[in-house]
Amino acid sequence: MNNNTPHAQIGAKEMLEGKKVRLRLRDKEDLDFFWEFWNNINYYGEYEAIQHQITKGEAEKRIENPSSNSGVEWTWFVIEKKDGTKIGFIIYFTVQPFGEIHVGYALIPNERDKGYGTEALQIVIDYLFLTKDIMRVQASTDVRNKASQRILEKADFKKEGVIRKGSFVRGQWADEYLYGILREDWKGPKILTK
Ligand SMILES: CC(C)(COP(=O)(O)OP(=O)(O)OC[C@H]1O[C@@H](n2cnc3c(N)ncnc32)[C@H](O)[C@@H]1OP(=O)(O)O)[C@@H](O)C(=O)NCCC(=O)NCCS
Repeated sequence: MNNNTPHAQIGAKEMLEGKKVRLRLRDKEDLDFFWEFWNNINYYGEYEAIQHQITKGEAEKRIENPSSNSGVEWTWFVIEKKDGTKIGFIIYFTVQPFGEIHVGYALIPNERDKGYGTEALQIVIDYLFLTKDIMRVQASTDVRNKASQRILEKADFKKEGVIRKGSFVRGQWADEYLYGILREDWKGPKILTK
């Protein structure tokens, strides 16, 4: 890739700027934010499993070495408002041996429903299709999680099926929808410019 290609202008170390939010790769300075996120049972929302409670030391290890526990490679972005306030995260992760790319996201409760999740997801999808030679990205979400389904649909994901009893959420098994976006479904960058 030479410096004149569109891809070269979006390096993983740069901030990905949107109109309302920007995405920044997670760093050690984000320890307190993530420690709270992982331990506060309200932060993941009512349709997500309650996370295992972890100590600050365990959180630090997780941040330093996010891929240490499996064949999964994780890339974590902090979602920030334009004034630098941290409001959530969005991740993509690659599952081996077949290399499927998944996305996941969550915002702190009082920053939901303001359009930030929509923009963060669109930025990550632009980023993935602009920088990687991939055919598809997928996501799964609780069938009751209308906000998540809506942002996936606004990013041009298509509902592909039901994963029956795909997660155990707050004491009960829950069905999930599988969503996917193919390169041909992606209509070009919505937020990031070439
Ligand atoms: C899912 C989440 C990231 C979405 O981000 P967000 O910033 O709240 O989403 P936005 O404000 O950009 O868009 C939400 C859309 O869903 C719609 N929506 C929200 N609640 C809804 C409901 N109960 N029924 C129908 N539509 C709903 C909104 O109207 C909006 O659509 P619109 O732009 O067409 O009006 C956020 O709600 C969140 O963090 N939830 C908790 C964690 C979570 O569930 N993560 C996803 C796990 S798969």
